[in-house]
Amino acid sequence: MGSEDKLAADALLPVGDNALRAALNVVMRGELVGIPTETVYGLAADATNGQAVASLYAAKGRPQFNPLICHVDSFEMAQNFGLFDERAELLVQNYWPGSLTIVLPKHPECSASDLVTAGLESIALRCPDSVFSRSLIAKLSRPLAAPSANLSGQLSPTTALAVRTAFSESIVPLVVDGGSCSVGLESTIVSCLPGQPVTVLRPGLVTAEELQTLFGEDQVRIHQPSQNDDLKPAAPGMLSSHYAPNARVEMIETQQVLSERSTLLTFAGAYLPVEAELVAIRDLSPSGSLKEAAANLFSMLRELDEMKPDCIYVVCPPQQGLGVAIHDRLQRAAAPRINAAQASES
Ligand code: TXA
Ligand code: MG
Repeated sequence: MGSEDKLAADALLPVGDNALRAALNVVMRGELVGIPTETVYGLAADATNGQAVASLYAAKGRPQFNPLICHVDSFEMAQNFGLFDERAELLVQNYWPGSLTIVLPKHPECSASDLVTAGLESIALRCPDSVFSRSLIAKLSRPLAAPSANLSGQLSPTTALAVRTAFSESIVPLVVDGGSCSVGLESTIVSCLPGQPVTVLRPGLVTAEELQTLFGEDQVRIHQPSQNDDLKPAAPGMLSSHYAPNARVEMIETQQVLSERSTLLTFAGAYLPVEAELVAIRDLSPSGSLKEAAANLFSMLRELDEMKPDCIYVVCPPQQGLGVAIHDRLQRAAAPRINAAQASES
């Protein structure tokens, strides 16, 4: 650990009663706190406090058209913010608490700041698995708006240290350390809107196949990101360039000669480069586990990026089950970069 990392690590508070009290104070003052969830770390603000939510957007450098997920401690709390139909209730029964975000019509008396929903008539709700974060929300008695705790367009953090490194204490006074995120990929986002099929807007741990088993194959649609999304996000957050390291990212599928100073992110021991000048290799899961690969994805990308290679070459895991979500994030990391003013994520 370098001296800067050491300083950053000193400013973290481990989950527990002290952290709960401190985090509650910070949030009630309208300030921002880094919180652990099972997916990725969130940067949280009181969802009903417009100024706090505005400072969230500012801290991330996030354009305001990209709405935020409201984190609730229970289905009971969620029902005051969104209108649940039978399908949404079935999702709650099967997946909450957990890594599923549900987009619903906004409740007429929804008290979340309009900035949270970025002017949409719908709201995204999630009940995270982290006991710490649910306790914090329960004590606050209001939802926490929490995007992933990274600067807009950068990799989502899966450790508290990555959050602390991205934001100084003057911007984020407290980061709570709950260890490495067990899932490591942002939640699956599914919309349940009237007159529309259940639609997977962002793949994640909860897969489209599982949802098709739950609702029937023809009842579930999968949103296909397109170039148009870059101009006007049909489903917000679907911009093609997200999750980007500083280095160029390129996926490789066949044996290739790699001429630059590069790093390789691979899966299950696959080795495709020929005559490569590789600085480092990381394997998402030597045993071929997609769960392990998801949990390692962002931290390994970050680690390879810190070596400042010209390119991070990636051998992608198979696109089945959770592999669909991993491929989605890698494809976005490899997409041509859009400039900061246009970049929306997240
Ligand atoms: O796992 C996660 O979901 C993490 C943790 C912290 O909970 N959060 C996260 O938030 O990934 P964020 O802000 O990085 O991504 C939220 C995504 C964005 O792409 C946003 O456009 C989408 O959710 N979203 C929010 N409200 C929406 C809505 N009403 N309709 C469609 N998409 C929405
Ligand atoms: Mg994000």
